[in-house]
Amino acid sequence: MLAFQGYKLTKWIYFLFLLAPLAHSKPVTALHWWTSNSEQAAEAVLVEAFAERGFDWQPVAVSGGAGEGALKVLRAKVLSGESPDIAQVVGPSIRDWAKLGFFHTQAKSSEYNAWPRALAAQVLPLVSLDGEPFAIPTSIHRINTLVYNQALFEQLNITPAETWQGFIEQLEQIQAAGVTPLAQSSQPWQLATLFEVIMAATLDTSQYLAVMQGFDANVILGSDMRLVFERFRQLQPFISNEATRDWQHHSQAIAEGKAAMQVMGDWAKAELALQPTSSNFALGCSTFLQSSKHVYSVDSFVIFNHVADDVAREISLLLSDPNVQARFSSAKGTIPARSDVPVDYDDCSAQSFEDFHSGDALPSMVHRAANNEEARNVFIHVVDRFYSDRKQTPEQAQQRLANELAALLSQ
Ligand code: GAL
Repeated sequence: MLAFQGYKLTKWIYFLFLLAPLAHSKPVTALHWWTSNSEQAAEAVLVEAFAERGFDWQPVAVSGGAGEGALKVLRAKVLSGESPDIAQVVGPSIRDWAKLGFFHTQAKSSEYNAWPRALAAQVLPLVSLDGEPFAIPTSIHRINTLVYNQALFEQLNITPAETWQGFIEQLEQIQAAGVTPLAQSSQPWQLATLFEVIMAATLDTSQYLAVMQGFDANVILGSDMRLVFERFRQLQPFISNEATRDWQHHSQAIAEGKAAMQVMGDWAKAELALQPTSSNFALGCSTFLQSSKHVYSVDSFVIFNHVADDVAREISLLLSDPNVQARFSSAKGTIPARSDVPVDYDDCSAQSFEDFHSGDALPSMVHRAANNEEARNVFIHVVDRFYSDRKQTPEQAQQRLANELAALLSQ
């Protein structure tokens, strides 16, 4: 009888031992906007990393719009006193909210694994207020990425264009073959993403920054910016009119052989990398016009102040850990925010690493590296209005952009 009692006791101890980690795993609510297949795969890397350290990642996922919906939900939650524990907050909004005391500083915990010293010069200022970090940068996107159906390109005997004229000729050839040349949505943020990529390819670096950060009317009203608007208009016949869906649906059209290529952040590469290769589809990845310029954005997480200090430090160490960053970026299609992490998981990311760290890195307006939300919204609105109103001339759009950005300066 004693033996049987002993067996039952052992079984219970074993069972409790199994449950122990779950009983101690601390819930962490995480607000973000990663809802596509590849974004969810990247989130799964963080879920696993949090679980390994005794945290139960509880997502508050708000889809769409490169974060517009997520930021609205975050504001509502904060105002109603229901802040999540951590949130994906990107770019200058970090400063705005840090000023109001919402976030844990990263000044102390960042020294634990030296992540500030491992960041490129452009990154730390994006997550800092007056030189003090208030967010953990997780990864760096390349916005001027071109993804395409390599199988279709081989059938048509084409390679990614290096000149604007070559690009137009390819679009015409693909259209003649009965395939939608450009997988592009008419959602405003996606139009503006295409527009800023054309800007980066047409202007020189100083002109690009003069528009995105200096609001320089001479450049905005100049002949080079007119050429950018003219080129943007030139692409409209190659974009299907009913294309109004989220970016990942347009990426999917490439995998299905219905569209040839997409100009989008490198998250589209991660999405298409999940697609099986076949005789009709193989993932092709390059940069728009094979440019070595790098239009970048930096994804980052903030930790709200209600989180206990020791938990906040654990989360900061976790999100900035080199191994976590490497695994996350491989799934997300990015390069790690830390520059001391090898990037060997795909050629496009290896090229992104090289161009970001040694080349012409240009901050994305649409993805919150170049300026604040107000300037971003003006930029997206002006581009969207120009695209939707076929009668609007480039000069009219240039004047509107100059006026509306100037009005921000006078506020
Ligand atoms: C960006 C975000 C990326 C990507 C994209 C589309 O703003 O930084 O991580 O997910 O939105 O959702």
